[in-house]
Amino acid sequence: VSLQKLNTFGIAAQAKLFLPVIELAQLQAVRNDPSLSQLPRLILGGGSNLVLSDQIDALVLHMCLQGKKLTSDDADFYYVTAAAGENWHEFVQWTLAQGWPGLENLSLIPGTVGAAPIQNIGAYGVEIQDVFHSLEAFDFATGEVVTLDKAACLFSYRDSIFKQSLRDRMVILNVTFALPKMWHPRLAYADVMKWLEQAQIQQANALQISQAIIAIRQAKLPDPQLIGNAGSFFKNPVVSASIRHALLAQYPDLVSYLQPSGDFKLAAGWLIEQTGWKGRSLGAAGVYEKQALVLVNRGHATGAEVKLLAQTVQSDVLKKFGVELEIEPNFY
Ligand code: EPU
Repeated sequence: VSLQKLNTFGIAAQAKLFLPVIELAQLQAVRNDPSLSQLPRLILGGGSNLVLSDQIDALVLHMCLQGKKLTSDDADFYYVTAAAGENWHEFVQWTLAQGWPGLENLSLIPGTVGAAPIQNIGAYGVEIQDVFHSLEAFDFATGEVVTLDKAACLFSYRDSIFKQSLRDRMVILNVTFALPKMWHPRLAYADVMKWLEQAQIQQANALQISQAIIAIRQAKLPDPQLIGNAGSFFKNPVVSASIRHALLAQYPDLVSYLQPSGDFKLAAGWLIEQTGWKGRSLGAAGVYEKQALVLVNRGHATGAEVKLLAQTVQSDVLKKFGVELEIEPNFY
């Protein structure tokens, strides 16, 4: 089976063992089948946070579970549940259309609902953990369906327990969000404020914020339908105040953001731009010309080419700034 259309990088990978998962029973069957249960697994959602090699030897489980509904509500929240295979952006738009705001800042993020908690997707001042209630997952180790609440997921910046100790063990089946009945716009991000000002929108509602974010993302980020990519390729590195101070002395234009911990998050896109890589390519893999944090497929790129470019960028940033960039997508 070709996975080229199932990964947003558009890498022409081939999988020998491929199973579209439309119901839980299939996961139980895989676990109960000795010839399948021992194989390495690749859980595939929207394919927007991974880089594939040419041949995938793992059993690919393509999560296609569908369905979304209002599960319950109380004085403070609507609890809305969506199955893992639902498209993230369509789900966000559906909640807004129902009159349940809260996810608008996360508009137009590629991928599926089931993948969203794994890297605690975040954009424009909101992370999924801010609106997350719980999820259900199939545990390959026990064969049970378990419920994990927010605390159990160990969310942090671009990270969760599903990238750490539960990696490749849990398959997320559905996610429940707690969307506040007392909604407040979250406009801390300068780009969003600027866009709304220019559109002469005062007191923006959730739909207008969603529109602003869609427009900002479209202007800055490549559309995976047209140019293969996996969004931000590196995390924004967090450094101590003293390291930031020393860098600032040498690079007065350094872009950094104070964190609650007192550390500073550096804009990886800025660091990469300073190395001269923005807009350049290595083989068929390139650094996007409008956002240096995004690596792109310039046509027929292989996973190996993307990896080589990523490593070269990492090593040039390390040489120039002494800062290590951590890769975000998973390699298979
Ligand atoms: N910058 C540059 N050159 C560049 C890119 C960025 O100088 O080529 C500097 C600019 O000063 C800019 C600042 O970096 O103001 C921040 O850039 P941007 O607003 O584009 O955000 P980011 O830090 O590069 C993060 C997320 C994005 C998310 C945006 C908006 C990470 C790894 N990435 O990017 O997430 O959309 O903030 O909140 O945290 C993704 O994960 O795929 C993704 C797009």
